[in-house]
Amino acid sequence: MLIPFTLNSKEVSVDVPAYYKLSDVLRDEFGMYGLRSACRKGYCGLCSVILDGKLVYSCLIPVFQIKNREILTIEGYAETEDFEDIYKGFKKEGVHLCDFCAPARTLSTGILLDRYPRPDERQLLEILTAVNCSCTPYETLKAGILTAARFRQRRVN
Ligand code: FES
Ligand code: FES
Repeated sequence: MLIPFTLNSKEVSVDVPAYYKLSDVLRDEFGMYGLRSACRKGYCGLCSVILDGKLVYSCLIPVFQIKNREILTIEGYAETEDFEDIYKGFKKEGVHLCDFCAPARTLSTGILLDRYPRPDERQLLEILTAVNCSCTPYETLKAGILTAARFRQRRVN
């Protein structure tokens, strides 16, 4: 099946079986290795991408569903100023992520901060649990997210 879509602001298309997982297609056909195919069942969040502005787990999406839609991966997000805010916020608060989960954690934090520019406790929990990793203490991660949010506020205001 021929599937045209937008990937990181570029018009692209791919010809693969419709039932293929989006995570596999993005990695194998487009080299988007920032997303990890870890659990492949919707538990870990490491395959996160943005589909039409919403955070999704790409291992749960059959590729035919992205026809004529827009995908943003960490590779595209890394070109944005929003990315810089997250990077600086995490660094300032000593959030050290491994290479395996850093892309998904950064992307999910950035996109959820679009929805919650000044996150309360419940919203912070939603951001924290988008990616399943308990290596970094929650309090450290929370501080990183809040500092990133402040950097963004300062930049856009
Ligand atoms: S690989 Fe998709 S949620 Fe784990
Ligand atoms: S899996 Fe990367 S820091 Fe926990």
